[in-house]
Amino acid sequence: MTSKPKILVTGCAGFIGFFVCRRLLEHGAEVVGVDNLNEYYDVNLKRARLAEFEGRAGFRFVKLDVADREGVAGLFGAESFEKVIHLAAQAGVRYSLTNPHAYVDSNLVGFANILESCRHGRVKHLVFASSSSVYGANTQMPFSVREGANHPLSLYAATKRANELMAHCYAHLYGLPCTGLRFFTVYGPWGRPDMALFLFTRAILEGRPIQVFNYGRMRRDFTYIDDIVEGVARVAERIPAPDPAWDGNQHPDGASGVAPYRLYNLGSHHPVELMEFIETLERKLGKTAKKELLPLQEGDVPATYADVEDLVRDTGFAPRTSIEEGIGRFVDWYREYYGV
Ligand SMILES: NC(=O)c1ccc[n+]([C@@H]2O[C@H](COP(=O)([O-])OP(=O)(O)OC[C@H]3O[C@@H](n4cnc5c(N)ncnc54)[C@H](O)[C@@H]3O)[C@@H](O)[C@H]2O)c1
Repeated sequence: MTSKPKILVTGCAGFIGFFVCRRLLEHGAEVVGVDNLNEYYDVNLKRARLAEFEGRAGFRFVKLDVADREGVAGLFGAESFEKVIHLAAQAGVRYSLTNPHAYVDSNLVGFANILESCRHGRVKHLVFASSSSVYGANTQMPFSVREGANHPLSLYAATKRANELMAHCYAHLYGLPCTGLRFFTVYGPWGRPDMALFLFTRAILEGRPIQVFNYGRMRRDFTYIDDIVEGVARVAERIPAPDPAWDGNQHPDGASGVAPYRLYNLGSHHPVELMEFIETLERKLGKTAKKELLPLQEGDVPATYADVEDLVRDTGFAPRTSIEEGIGRFVDWYREYYGV
């Protein structure tokens, strides 16, 4: 009998982590899930996600802060993980303007702890969450992983870009295979209460105005959760090897290197105008939104658009869920979960 691969998923009580765990369990993996259950948003939602795994064979939850150096080392000392999918982080662009230290602790100290433990634990593949926000001031669309991403506009973005650089260094120095995924505005059932779709839905149903930034002149490559999970699962199966074609002289490609390291965009490749997104939501809710038009928020970018060529080439997968379908499924979940 072959033993099941043991996979560590950090941020398992979070939006994306929850779905990634579910997918891995469905495919027969043994999953250890770590989360510190912090109160950045409603902790009941995190607990409710975890409750879905109660009594489920193959899943174990460990409450742990990844910034706790001894705690992380202790976990890796006690368990042997084949792969690590690192999703725990302080998320959110806007919150990073007022709570910078939360990002330093979780995203920089926490990430260093994960890297060190993966190195000493001889993990075969570390897959970690980066973000489309690393493109910052870049304006050439679609955003390509091959281009530089050197002008972050928020500390959140800077910590995610730092993660990519730290991972490259560990891939190079210690041969730790690392893949970074730049997620583009993820939405869907069980989503994050601090993000636009959730905030809009709640406000519209309660008859309160929604805040529409940059006067609605925003384009986002909204990406449905199932597409994100499919991308994560496929990438996790592909352990990166050194890229023999990489050339440090002629415009070095930022997405690979002579180390076992890859970066991919994981976005729908179909940017949508914010107003179209809102109209779709209004239709699904059967209610019109009162709109408060506001300037662009500091730290935010007006547009995102993912080039997914490398993802398609290497995994054969491209996100495919339309916002019509995705928003519909979110609204169905929201109404059922909150009974409204
Ligand atoms: N949702 C998106 O649109 C999006 C876009 C780009 C990148 N990302 C990244 O994807 C990952 C998952 O995002 P999400 O949307 O599921 O967010 P989330 O906040 O729902 O999930 C993150 C989880 O990590 C946990 N966590 C935070 N700090 C921790 C720490 N120090 N130790 C242990 N656990 C900790 C939180 O309690 C939470 O449950 C994050 O790294 C995020 O930055 C998300």
